[in-house]
Amino acid sequence: MAKFTVNSPKFGGHVIEADENSSLLQALQEAGYQVPHLCYHEALSQYGACRLCLVEVKKGRKQKLTTACNYPVKDGIEVHLDTEKVVRNRKMVLELLLSLCPNSADLQALAAKHGVTEVRFDKDEDNDCILCGLCERVCREIVGVSAITFCERGDRKAVEPPFGVADECIACGACAYVCPVDCIKIEVRDGKKVIVRWGRELELQNDDLAGAPYAPKFMLEHFRKLTNLPADFYEDKAPWTFERKRK
Ligand code: FES
Repeated sequence: MAKFTVNSPKFGGHVIEADENSSLLQALQEAGYQVPHLCYHEALSQYGACRLCLVEVKKGRKQKLTTACNYPVKDGIEVHLDTEKVVRNRKMVLELLLSLCPNSADLQALAAKHGVTEVRFDKDEDNDCILCGLCERVCREIVGVSAITFCERGDRKAVEPPFGVADECIACGACAYVCPVDCIKIEVRDGKKVIVRWGRELELQNDDLAGAPYAPKFMLEHFRKLTNLPADFYEDKAPWTFERKRK
């Protein structure tokens, strides 16, 4: 464990403990501090894309501005929250994010909470993604499918299925769940689950007890193979009937 000091204008100075080298953002959150962030999720690797989780860290005689999500906790560091420098730079980051994604209601609300309502930069009116990479990481690291990836560079950078074809997508919806700006929509149309952004449509399996569709057949087949279940395991049964089938 490492002990370090946190100074905030609201709560003053406190010493907290966390695992050495764990994410500073995670440690601060667990200690009850609120640090705004968009691209961090405790279940995923850190990526440091949004630059919003700014704090100042003093180590020895040096003090620097850094992102907290990918800064490792160290014994004896001093963390300063909401300093004048942090607030000024966080506002700039929010302004840049808003220029990238000006029509996102979630982002507008977050920016307004931090006093940013005007944007001085060119706005990309057609864009609705902040490139935080959470969708790509959850698909690769948790679902284990890698159906989407970053492509292109510079102002053409985007997250898309490789070569624009979402053949690997199992329509689990994890990408939509983690998206902080709600730009990945899921719909159910004509007995199919549709991940609108990736253009993926998959037929749903019916539950014979409830008489309603409950999960894409392709997704069930993916997990059946992954867990070495017999080919007829699902038949027309929903997962909550597994126990009955096992007997
Ligand atoms: Fe730390 Fe995005 S949450 S850079």
